[in-house]
Amino acid sequence: MNEIIQIEKLIQFTLGDSILEIIYIIASVLFIFGLKMLSNPGTARKGNLWAAFGMGLAIVGTILFHKNSEGHGIGNIPWILGAIVIGTVIGWGVAVKVKMTAMPQLVSLFNGMGGGAAALISLMEFPHLAAGLADGTYNMFSGQVLAILIGLMIGSVSFAGSMVAFGKLDERIGDIRSPLIKYINMFLLVVLIGFIVYIMSQGTVDPHSLMPVIIIMFVVALIYGISFVMPIGGADMPVVISLLNSFTGVAAAMGGFLYHNQAMLTGGILVGSAGTILTILMCKAMNRSLTNVIIGGFGGGSGSGAATGAVGDQVAKEVTANDAAIQLYYSRSVMFVPGYGLAVAQAQKTVKELDDLLSENGVEVNYAVHSVAGRMPGHMNVLMAEADVPYEKLLGEEEANERMKNVDVIIVVGANDVVNPSAYDDPGSPIYGMPVINAWEAKSVIILKRSMNTGYAGIQNPLFFKPNAKMLFGDAKKTIHSLITEVKSLG
Ligand code: TAP
Repeated sequence: MNEIIQIEKLIQFTLGDSILEIIYIIASVLFIFGLKMLSNPGTARKGNLWAAFGMGLAIVGTILFHKNSEGHGIGNIPWILGAIVIGTVIGWGVAVKVKMTAMPQLVSLFNGMGGGAAALISLMEFPHLAAGLADGTYNMFSGQVLAILIGLMIGSVSFAGSMVAFGKLDERIGDIRSPLIKYINMFLLVVLIGFIVYIMSQGTVDPHSLMPVIIIMFVVALIYGISFVMPIGGADMPVVISLLNSFTGVAAAMGGFLYHNQAMLTGGILVGSAGTILTILMCKAMNRSLTNVIIGGFGGGSGSGAATGAVGDQVAKEVTANDAAIQLYYSRSVMFVPGYGLAVAQAQKTVKELDDLLSENGVEVNYAVHSVAGRMPGHMNVLMAEADVPYEKLLGEEEANERMKNVDVIIVVGANDVVNPSAYDDPGSPIYGMPVINAWEAKSVIILKRSMNTGYAGIQNPLFFKPNAKMLFGDAKKTIHSLITEVKSLG
């Protein structure tokens, strides 16, 4: 009788295991398809849902079918469900309320939560390494320990770094620039690697005895996360944001190693590699090497906040909405350059309205979308997709520059750093070397912004003083509304 019960248990155990494996495979496939769909604005929303469904499936599968080597389920179900409910309510509430302009900060915050969760897994699992072993000791020179320590280090750096990135994007924290910081950072990195070597060289010991070292390592990793992002200034933030993204992925993948959880491993690897690819693309967009960004930590001086066209001795020319509309009406080719100000003004749909109006009049309308315009990767693409701008009208910086000389009027809508010619002709400029949109090469440039304020990098823009450039001051959405009214009155 006993034997029959045991065999039944064994069958249940292996059946549950097989179901869970199948669930993890399905979840991993959903992650991959979801990620693929995220690469196109038209399918991105669906892709996000697919990946989220995959994650939901993996969580439910784990709760229902996961068994440890002794055949016990994961336990603590009320706590887990409670945490899921609290997390869902907070996440949902914040995401529903957040303004479109605060989206980059929110993404940073969520990314940090992922890193923090991975670090907590390491903190929780380390003392349990020897659970179930007769003498309560564990060999520290093992893959499990390495996965825990890397997860702890990278997860903590990602958490603390993302919190600083959140503060910077939300303009709550400024840059701290000191030549000392890079040495402090190098020192902290060496200390962290030293911790890993020290712990792994302890031989077979009770993991509890090493907990004080683990906690110190956790704190040092948090400090490193802060001091790593703190000096990175102005225009270099996109690179750091993508790098932190990839850190979170790697930290989660370490959790996957630890728990032998294929879904977590695949998810972590996908996020890690997507973040790495994005980091490379962002470095390319800024024409900077990763080491240069991390070690160099640069920003810019402060600019003038004048609400007129004057900055020091230089005076920028202004144009009225009426004159600008006449120019647009009689153009053959118009190009918009959307920037962060477009997101602030939420002017995407209004711009599309003006585009439709001009296109109906036979004007060729395109958009020059710079890879680092806005405050998060793909920021402008998201806004343009929201306004239903056809994908083929969106030109990357290279293609836009090739066409620039044939553009009659270029309208810069709340962009600044991405159209700054200092990137080419001022070796002292913090954005020197970054490819920008050569707006000044168009026949005429109209810049829509509220004042002579600088952009994110904090530097003045010589484009505003070029002979073919004119400022049209005001909130971008209101200004474009006026342009629409004026163009209609001409027709
Ligand atoms: P910015 O250089 O930041 O310039 C935006 C301009 O928009 C400002 O000069 C501002 O001038 C104007 N503006 C703000 N609100 C406006 C409104 N309601 N109506 C009209 N204009 C408005 O933007 P960009 O050219 O898009 O460049 C992006 C910068 O952010 C780069 O330096 C980039 O490196 C950095 N960054 C990017 C990312 C990612 S991943 N894309 C992440 C972090 C940082 P006024 O105040 O005078 O109106």
